[in-house]
Amino acid sequence: MSRVALVTGGSRGIGAAISMALKEAGYTVAANYAGNDEAAAKFTAETGIKTYKWSVADYDACAAGIAQVEADLGPVDVLVNNAGITRDAPFHKMTREQWDQVIGTNLNGIFNMTHPLWNGMRDRKFGRIINISSINGQKGQFAQANYSAAKAGDIGFTKALAQEGARAGITVNAICPGYIATEMVMAVPEKVRESIIATIPVGRLGDVTDIARCVVFLAADSAGFITGATITANGGQYMT
Ligand SMILES: NC(=O)c1ccc[n+]([C@@H]2O[C@H](COP(=O)([O-])OP(=O)(O)OC[C@H]3O[C@@H](n4cnc5c(N)ncnc54)[C@H](OP(=O)(O)O)[C@@H]3O)[C@@H](O)[C@H]2O)c1
Repeated sequence: MSRVALVTGGSRGIGAAISMALKEAGYTVAANYAGNDEAAAKFTAETGIKTYKWSVADYDACAAGIAQVEADLGPVDVLVNNAGITRDAPFHKMTREQWDQVIGTNLNGIFNMTHPLWNGMRDRKFGRIINISSINGQKGQFAQANYSAAKAGDIGFTKALAQEGARAGITVNAICPGYIATEMVMAVPEKVRESIIATIPVGRLGDVTDIARCVVFLAADSAGFITGATITANGGQYMT
């Protein structure tokens, strides 16, 4: 029986690449998404990977969604907390709603997804939790107090939970992508994009596969000695 992996926000962008790479590596994959039914249907048609719709910001919806995935595919061995949003504004213009939405999805979301799965992983003495944080959680970013706070919180969560999971065969790790050539980044004006690339020592944006390969590495059964780690994949833009 192949191991089961659940990827949040797994139907688009970095998450889609993660879902496909895990499938390629032999996992049975479930991809969660929030609301873009069209993209999810296209993704399933192209890859054969099942998609499941719920918001990671809603604890009860996560518990119900996970129960459905486990009924369909079996116990989840690998959880990739990838779903994330931005609601950027300089702090003097940031609204309470922008703050709450980003914390609700990017920080509360990883609690909401990990908590319902935790005891099952403990009982089975195996689990892989991989949290997709960000370079901006490491260094901070103008107009992203909400996003940087949530992404830094993801790293703290990772380090704390890694200590609790260690004796139960559960590893908990974080990945911090730099600027990746997703639709969002490619939509910014070329001049802005060029100015971003100028700050990246390797001289290019990251590709979604640069992040997916880190996930496959951390998800492996053989990666059991790596826990509480933060893998930085940013082309050398920020070195911690
Ligand atoms: N792109 C970058 O350069 C970059 C850099 C550093 C870190 N990251 C992080 O990497 C992750 C993926 O980013 P991306 O650029 O690939 O994002 P993206 O292309 O915007 O895709 C986001 C995915 O997350 C899903 N999603 C959003 N809110 C959700 C919610 N409440 N519940 C469930 N799913 C939700 C979306 O679902 P729908 O399709 O239904 O909308 C979509 O599948 C994020 O955590 C982001 O912060 C990205």
